[in-house]
Amino acid sequence: MDVISIRGNGPLRGTVSAAGSKNASLLAMAASIMADGPIALGGVPDVTDVSTLALLLGYLGVETKRSADGVVRLQTVDPSQVTADVETVSRMRASFCVLGPLVARRGRAAVALPGGCRIGSRPIDLHLQGLAALGANIRFEHGTVIAEAKKLHGVEMNLSGLNGPTVTGTANVLMAATLASGETILRGAAREPEIVDLCEFLNSIGARIEGAGGSTIRIRGVEQLSGGTYQVIPDRMETGTLLLAAAITGGDVTVRGARPEHLEALLAVLDDAGVMLDTGPNWIRAAIADRPLPFQFTALPYPGVPTDLQAQCTALATLAEGRSTIADQVFPDRFAHLAELSKLGACVDRCGSTAIIDGVHRLQGDVLQASDLRAAAALVLAGLVAHDVTTIRRAHHLFRGYDRLIEKLNSLGADVVLNPNESEAERRSQRRFSASQVAA
Ligand code: UD1
Repeated sequence: MDVISIRGNGPLRGTVSAAGSKNASLLAMAASIMADGPIALGGVPDVTDVSTLALLLGYLGVETKRSADGVVRLQTVDPSQVTADVETVSRMRASFCVLGPLVARRGRAAVALPGGCRIGSRPIDLHLQGLAALGANIRFEHGTVIAEAKKLHGVEMNLSGLNGPTVTGTANVLMAATLASGETILRGAAREPEIVDLCEFLNSIGARIEGAGGSTIRIRGVEQLSGGTYQVIPDRMETGTLLLAAAITGGDVTVRGARPEHLEALLAVLDDAGVMLDTGPNWIRAAIADRPLPFQFTALPYPGVPTDLQAQCTALATLAEGRSTIADQVFPDRFAHLAELSKLGACVDRCGSTAIIDGVHRLQGDVLQASDLRAAAALVLAGLVAHDVTTIRRAHHLFRGYDRLIEKLNSLGADVVLNPNESEAERRSQRRFSASQVAA
């Protein structure tokens, strides 16, 4: 069990670079199932979710190799495979995104119901509705979804659910629609930058998709997709987490390789909190000398504040000069981090899908347990500023989505150690995300 130990070490200062987007990479990797030639994706982060999908794609006959320059190459070597390995799918929800590409390109898919971060109810009804609307025959067999179609057919549909649009559901359906006959009009589509990036990638290999970034996406089906080379967008969640690390420690950090236009809602929250911000075309600087001011927001689908930054913003609010309220409309139960933050002395309460946080002067280090990826990041942020040592158990969650976060924080002046009871040699040999492991 991975453990992280953090000694509160004052303001973070300096410059770091953001990795490529985990979520955009996962979608592009799933889409590569449909490509008739080799795909080379630049900027894919070295994180366990990527390794997990690479493993799954390996079982599905897609060979995946990461080279030293960070480029991940994918090539179909056995298109007869249509069954997604149950154990791998249960580890990561994004694995379910192989369903649309498999049924569209190979005519059949058998994919187990997905697992992933425990952040509340995560149904897949909209994925299935959308694929059924395209003409896929869908049934369940012992906890596995079987989807079959000789040929999918374009159709007009609305994919929005009770909590708004679905990101991976939109991706699953639009990927399948690229190889359907005729035109698909997808209303209620997710507008996240990762969806735009997926569409740009697909268009670069021959798809005909218009309107990505808006809530209506138009897909004109094509006969085939080719191979190609593509650079994924920077990770806005990692960028946001690093800016929040600057804010919570009263520091001054510049994140390079960032896209400020993808983080406008977070930057507005940081501005409310009294953080001084400066941006350029591919960098963002956040600096603050005093305690943050209290702030309010509701996590919403894009362009709102992302739910994937809600927990980290909550960590910042624990030290604000007054009461902050933070609601989450995307995942109304995503508040497992509150109980852990309270162990550090944070004054937090919850009313339905809203957290109420009364800022305190100081946090005191303690032993915490991470419940999911973003909650783990929130606990790390709190640990950076807590007095004495904060220990975070089940820290493996962090490595699902952050590429070398500990190294980056330490380069800014933090004192974070992974598995402090191991020797330096053991720690080095534990680098799990090496090229050989990503290669499936
Ligand atoms: C994606 C992101 C995740 C992020 C989330 C919300 C990836 C790999 N993951 O997850 O990091 O937290 O978007 O921005 O990109 N819903 C339904 N029916 C469905 C699907 C979803 O009702 O079939 C609901 C969910 O319960 C939730 C809302 O829709 O309330 C949004 O979820 P969704 O966008 O689907 O999340 P993911 O795509 O799983």
